[in-house]
Amino acid sequence: MSNTITVFKGDGIGPEITDAVLKILDEAGAGLAYEIFSVGEAEFEAHGELIPQEGFASFEKNRVLLKSPITTPVGKGFRSLNVMMRKKYDLYANIRPARSNSAVKTPFENVDIVIFRENTEDLYAGIEEMADEDTARSIKIITRKCSQRIIKDAFDYAVRQGRKKVTCVHKANIMKLSDGLFRDVFYEVSREYPQIEAEDKIVDNVAMQLVMKPQQFDVIVTENLYGDILSDLTSGLIGGLGLLPSSNLGCGYAMFEAVHGSAPDIAKKGIANPTAFLWSACMMLEHMGKSDCAARIRKAVDQVLAEGTVKTPDLGGRATTAEYTEAIIRRLC
Ligand code: NAI
Repeated sequence: MSNTITVFKGDGIGPEITDAVLKILDEAGAGLAYEIFSVGEAEFEAHGELIPQEGFASFEKNRVLLKSPITTPVGKGFRSLNVMMRKKYDLYANIRPARSNSAVKTPFENVDIVIFRENTEDLYAGIEEMADEDTARSIKIITRKCSQRIIKDAFDYAVRQGRKKVTCVHKANIMKLSDGLFRDVFYEVSREYPQIEAEDKIVDNVAMQLVMKPQQFDVIVTENLYGDILSDLTSGLIGGLGLLPSSNLGCGYAMFEAVHGSAPDIAKKGIANPTAFLWSACMMLEHMGKSDCAARIRKAVDQVLAEGTVKTPDLGGRATTAEYTEAIIRRLC
């Protein structure tokens, strides 16, 4: 695998956390070369394209993309670039690990949940129309093929990582055909993995159970919309969106990004927490066979969090992004 990666800088806090993460990667000796592109609304206003053609070409060549968040207008304007990227490159498996860190105190301890979110269909297929002036319709798509591959990935991961249980999350009591198909496929696939416990739960119950007793969950596999919402919930269990990384994997392409968005409320203030994006970069290093470097970075972050003196405001501290970044770099060994 090449050591050159494509980087999309995004907007809001995107540029700030990108600069922080690339600096740490360099100081940790990741040995990467970067092809960096500005993407999003500002790029559109400046050059007429949300993502420059060279950006797509670079990703198609390098096959690995580190992408910082991009703002999506609500209710109008262009469609989400995130959804577009996932569909265009069939990045069907969105993997979102939420693990408690003993240095970050929350009301919840020992949380270790990995969500496998189907990334290409469901209500996110973007098939919407106005049936008449007062009626909007969105179509939900669930296919056997897309369900099979994400569910299989979740079980394969459970086996590889020594996990015990996979929970299928759905709403098949109401959406009997679409969610019913997802659930049926789940149990079909589960028969190939007798060593892993398979269970299914309805999404509203899961939202409650995640808050009451999150330790009961291990690996969760679910559809696009439920996965999007529940993974923000799991980030809340471990200390917030600043701590939840993700990978988006497909056939031959891999995109790594934080779960959070562009956080316009804190953009350009220099206080964004780059940890989720940094841990996404660690997932990228592991994907590229650079697990030692990823482990070195994770250890440095753990040390800084454990010492507790240099924390960004979302974690109750007063440090700037730059101060936190420097503290991590000082602890790299
Ligand atoms: P958001 O995730 O940007 O922010 C939610 C809250 O969490 C805000 O209070 C924010 O300050 C805080 N937060 C998020 N990341 C943080 C970090 N690294 N450090 C400290 N605090 C952090 O969600 P919101 O406000 O709903 O969305 C803003 C924009 O981001 C929207 O346009 C949305 O469409 C877009 N978005 C983009 C994503 C992506 O590019 N993958 C994912 C989610 C949202």
